[in-house]
Formats: sequence, C-alpha cells, structure tokens
Amino acid sequence: MTLNILLDARFTYRIAGIVRGRAIAPRLKDMPTTIVFSSEKGGVGKTTSAVNLATAFSVGGYRVLLIDMDPQGSVRFSFGVKDPVEMGSLQLLTESTTPLSSIVVQSQEHGLDYVFSNIDSLQQERDVDRLVSVPDALKNRLATEGGGYDFIILDAPASTGTLALNALTAADLVILPLQCESLAIKSLKRFLSAFKEIQAQYNPNLRVAGILLTMYDRSIEVHRRISRQLYDTLYDAVFATIIPKSKDITEASALGESVISYNINSVSATAYIRLAKEILDRYGLRPELAVS
Ligand SMILES: Nc1ncnc2c1ncn2[C@@H]1O[C@H](COP(=O)(O)OP(=O)(O)O)[C@@H](O)[C@H]1O
Ligand SMILES: [Mg+2]
Repeated sequence: MTLNILLDARFTYRIAGIVRGRAIAPRLKDMPTTIVFSSEKGGVGKTTSAVNLATAFSVGGYRVLLIDMDPQGSVRFSFGVKDPVEMGSLQLLTESTTPLSSIVVQSQEHGLDYVFSNIDSLQQERDVDRLVSVPDALKNRLATEGGGYDFIILDAPASTGTLALNALTAADLVILPLQCESLAIKSLKRFLSAFKEIQAQYNPNLRVAGILLTMYDRSIEVHRRISRQLYDTLYDAVFATIIPKSKDITEASALGESVISYNINSVSATAYIRLAKEILDRYGLRPELAVS
C-alpha cells in the first residue's frame, strides 16, 4: 500500500470518528494555518465552504477555530444558533483585554471552536471602523492567542472594508469560491487585483490556496464550459475538488447543521472532506508525512 492510500485510510477513519467521539490528530506545527474564504460577490458559497471545511478538519482530529468576520452573521445560523451572541467578533476586534478564551464558543460535537459575529447594527460596524484603526488587529490577536489551533478558518464579508481587510491581513491562505457563470472570469480578475494590493500593502505572506468551484451542476452547459476554461488557463490554481450543487446543503442549512454532520455520505459532504485532504496535501500539512 502506498503511503498516500494509508494516509487516506487514516483520515477517513478519523472522519468516521464523528460518530464515536473526538479523535485527536498530532499537532501540525506550532502556529495555526489561517485560511480565509473571500469574494467580493455574495452568495457564492463562502459561508457554506468555511463551515464545512472547518467541520471536515475538526472531525479529522485537528483543532479548528472558525471566525465569522461577516456582519451578516451567517455562520451562527449555519449552526442553528438563534439567540443573540453576547461575546463575539465585536469583542475580538475591539477589546484586546478580553481573552480569546472567553469569546470562543466550544461546540459539543467534535472540538470545533467558533467566534460568532455580533456586529449586528450599522452603528456597531461603524464602531469597529473607528476603533480598529490598523489592518492587523486580528492578526496580532491571533498571533498571541491562537497558538492552540491547527487551523483558523475565517469567513470574510463580501466587501472591502475594515473587517475584510483584517481577515485578509491575518490569513496565510485565501480561497476564492467561484460559481461557473458568465461573470466568474470578471470577478476573478477583480479578486486578483485586490489580492495583489493586499499582498503588497498589508500581508506579504498571503498566498492564494486556490479557486474553489461551487454550486456546480454538470448538466448545465455553461458550468461545463466555464470550468473547462478555468482549468485550461489556471491549471492547479483551481482546486481539483469541485463542490456540486446539492439539495443536501440546502436541507442542512435549513436545519442549522453542516452538511457533514447532516449526511456524511452525501456527495457534498464527501466533496468538502476531499477539499480538506487536498489542502493538507498541497501544503504538506499532514503530520504523518514528517515521519515518513
Ligand atoms: N453546493 C451548494 N448547493 C446548493 N446550495 C448551496 C451550495 N452552496 C451554497 N448553497 C446555498 O447558497 C446560498 C449562498 O451560500 P453562502 O455559503 O451563504 O454564500 P456566501 O457566504 O458567499 O454569501 C445559501 O443559501 C446556501 O445554503
Ligand atoms: Mg456568507
């Protein structure tokens, strides 16, 4: 058996651990890898992808913190949290004396921690703009207090304001979710120029992890044509994993669950687990590889 098949089997075993309780993977490295889902367009699958990638890593045994940087607060609805959030992104960004440990919410299920968004009003958003005067407020916070995690996943808003800028400045890797529709290439161009600007001005370490094709329907000719164009021109800058359009995702989000806990055997849950593996492989992050 090749090493890769062995590793796949181990990862799948850990994923299966979701029903048996939490498996713990060996630490990947001293500091977490921070991944941001970013797109100037809304409704492209950022939140769904952030929630499900975070869940995939956490059921794989990794220590994961998912932070909702979008004032729309969709992450908490994705997990069925309807009550107002007392401690959340507002305190994370504006109260440096409040420890991260009193802001995060720990999930009961499998060791995934969250910071929900509680920047609920326009006034609070303005307060954040006023109080967070540096783009690296989040980065500094995570550098001092995020050390216990393997992955920090950030769900960024579809804007270019303080919150998006802080998310992109704090991240090591950015994933751009893209739908295979006619405006995709245009939004890709806009993203790349924004990315270059952020990299030059605020975060020289930022890398594009990849473009993630979402809500893909292979019965639609435009989807097939645009995905072919993207792979032909951008090669492995586009993840091999494609997230299909599926009713499981709609049903899971209506129930306030990730699609991985809703139906781990569904094509979309499998796709997000495959994406987690693809990221681990791309960045040599699997701890076992160091042993080989
Ligand atoms: N692969 C998918 N198949 C079907 N519906 C999806 C899929 N991905 C996302 N959705 C739905 O599309 C809508 C927008 O997705 P969302 O992740 O909230 O996008 P964003 O965060 O970019 O605004 C949500 O209602 C979500 O449930
Ligand atoms: Mg969203």
